[in-house]
Amino acid sequence: MEMLMFDTQQELDAYAAQLFINTVKEKPNAVLGLATGSTPIGIYDKMVESYKENKVSFKEVTTFNLDEYVGITPENDQSYAYYMNKHLFSHIDIPAAQTHLPNGMAPDMEGESARYDAMLESQPVDIQLLGLGHNGHIGFNEPDVNLSGGTHAVKLKKETREANARFFASMDEVPEYAITMGVGSILKANTIVLAVRGSDKAEIVKEALTGPITTSVPASLLQTHARVIVLLDREAGRMLV
Ligand code: GLP
Repeated sequence: MEMLMFDTQQELDAYAAQLFINTVKEKPNAVLGLATGSTPIGIYDKMVESYKENKVSFKEVTTFNLDEYVGITPENDQSYAYYMNKHLFSHIDIPAAQTHLPNGMAPDMEGESARYDAMLESQPVDIQLLGLGHNGHIGFNEPDVNLSGGTHAVKLKKETREANARFFASMDEVPEYAITMGVGSILKANTIVLAVRGSDKAEIVKEALTGPITTSVPASLLQTHARVIVLLDREAGRMLV
């Protein structure tokens, strides 16, 4: 695991964005694995900035997002589809048909999971962006006795719904279910970029990166991957030094 610590969020964002831009420059039809949450916003801003400065084109790129809420339409401003358009897709030259998220409105979650996995199988992710949940979740893979390899629907833990409530008008509006890429699919990416900021994540960062590999901390499974780049700000990394 390669680990880098940054003094400012701007530096972390710029570094992370550059890893994705370099991938696209080397391979114009690269497959990018993307994430949501508050952490990637600044990273996407930097990617948009580079595009606007004509430093990179996303015309041939394909993207797969990690997850989506169940029961929320893509037009709903709380959906991850809406988030991706707002923060990235609508600002760059990627054709909409090349951007993929699990469909949280699909009538049959098992069928939707199989459809998503088949696409991932035929277009393996070159570089995957990941954030980290306070309980060690990646995507929406919550701590459990067993973890699913492929895409699947999950019931969100109370702490995850509480953490995400800040984006909703009230706790009642936070969906109870989501559909997420599985840990197995995430680990198939050629390179994984884990970006974490904030003092409130320091403990889980330490547990996930240096603690035992366990399904009760899904991010700890990243320790088994050959090419993970961990990007931390000083606060998130304070328990590692
Ligand atoms: C959500 C997302 C995760 C993300 C996590 C942390 O639960 N499903 O993919 O990593 O939030 O988000 P933040 O970066 O806002 O702390």
